[in-house]
Amino acid sequence: MFVKIKGTGSCLPEKVLDNAAISQLVDTNDEWIQSRTGIKSRHIVGKETAVSMAAVAAEKALEDAGITAEEIDLLIVSSVSSEQLLPCTACSVQKELGAVNAAAFDLNAACSGFIVAYQMAAGQIKAGLSKKALLIGVECLSNIVNWKDRGTCILFGDGAGAAVISAEEEGNIEIPSVLHSDGSRGEVLTCKNPTGERKDRSLEGYVAMDGREIYKFAVRQVPAVIDEILEKAEKSVEEIDLFVLHQANRRIVEAIAKRLKQPIEKFPMDMMQNGNMSSASIPVLLDELKQEGKLQPGMKIIVAGFGAGLTWGGMYLEW
Ligand code: COA
Repeated sequence: MFVKIKGTGSCLPEKVLDNAAISQLVDTNDEWIQSRTGIKSRHIVGKETAVSMAAVAAEKALEDAGITAEEIDLLIVSSVSSEQLLPCTACSVQKELGAVNAAAFDLNAACSGFIVAYQMAAGQIKAGLSKKALLIGVECLSNIVNWKDRGTCILFGDGAGAAVISAEEEGNIEIPSVLHSDGSRGEVLTCKNPTGERKDRSLEGYVAMDGREIYKFAVRQVPAVIDEILEKAEKSVEEIDLFVLHQANRRIVEAIAKRLKQPIEKFPMDMMQNGNMSSASIPVLLDELKQEGKLQPGMKIIVAGFGAGLTWGGMYLEW
């Protein structure tokens, strides 16, 4: 028996910033951005906040799952770019939803955040410490991106995705999943806490990235982690119906598909219109696939993410 995703939801800001609009801000163009990343446009917060987007996505996921906010006993928010440090975003979302019976906390594992939240919650369910968990990935990356740096500002978008998970029944629960981190390589993708500026004027609270190193890391480690998950799930790569990967970049997804020798059609993508939404990417994509009727009961899915830390990992799901 597996932990199941019972419902999904998402929320994207109203404002859309396309590549033409970005080329008004920095020296770039639509052709360069699309050919290197696959991204055409992204959503950017205006009046929305991390809490407001997370709450909307969560309400939709609860409705989709057919359960009430009071039934949730664990609420995890993954974010690196919420406007607030205290109280944690998860507690503010708890208040918005009236999820009065939930233990709520935030975690930061960058773009792997939804994967980590899922595995932590699934572990709690397996241990009998939780029954129904609400997981949210939410990002307002436009707040921490340097809009003068053409190497990074073209990549990211804002949004929130949510999923409700639970076990079918008490009993032996399998969680075929893998997590890795390598802190020794953390300098390739960083963002200093802007509050540090008070102590050290040289610190800037913006995302800084070595794009080539991240690219090499992703195309090497993600296929390897997928192999590890397949082994744990006792499945062959051919048996997998869909690979739902972190939506950083079309070229990265294509390179992973090639390394796995699997058709690109098994790798759904939405970075074209959403950009890289860090920990929101995977739950938003799952929700879009569900709304499009592309997730059918019994489908075998591998979900995998990678990002700053460095962190990477994934899991096997049966829909
Ligand atoms: N528009 C136009 N030119 C740009 C540009 C932009 N937005 N950004 C960089 N360039 C230029 C550079 O200045 C450089 O010019 P130079 O040769 O005159 O110095 C040239 O393009 C090549 O830059 P480079 O950074 O080597 O490009 P790249 O081929 O590695 O592509 C990325 C850049 C970011 C698209 C690519 O490295 C990548 O996809 N990395 C992964 C990033 C990622 O997914 N991060 C999030 C992980 S969670």
